[in-house]
Amino acid sequence: MTKYVALLVAGCSMLTAFGNAVASPEMVRSYNCTACHAEDKKKYGPTYQQVALKYADEAGAAEKLAKKIQTGGAGVWGNTPMPAQPRVTDEDALAIARYILSVK
Ligand code: HEC
Repeated sequence: MTKYVALLVAGCSMLTAFGNAVASPEMVRSYNCTACHAEDKKKYGPTYQQVALKYADEAGAAEKLAKKIQTGGAGVWGNTPMPAQPRVTDEDALAIARYILSVK
């Protein structure tokens, strides 16, 4: 019986791990963000390092960036606009935003 419970618990924590999308450089690449962004080299858009530095102390930055990733916009880093990325799901946008904020 104890063994059964332990298995059940292990199974559930595995499910949670898969349920929370963990963003990675691969995910960012799969959405083609890398066409305009690199971690530490300026391309069409700001580097993820710049973004992480800018929002390092800002509360709610991940949520704000997740929205910006989906809707696009301009004016924060210059006049070059970032096109909306409607393919990115809410969950992935938040995961990617957290990943970008972790780039140092
Ligand atoms: C066509 C080029 C292009 C693509 C593709 C693109 N971006 Fe951007 N991105 C930009 C530009 C330009 C800016 C600067 C916008 C501004 O100044 O407000 C930007 C800004 C950002 C910012 C900072 C937003 C802010 O308000 O500070 C984040 C985060 C970001 N992009 C993430 C992504 C992610 C994630 C993807 C892929 C899903 C992506 N971008 C795809 C060009 C692009």
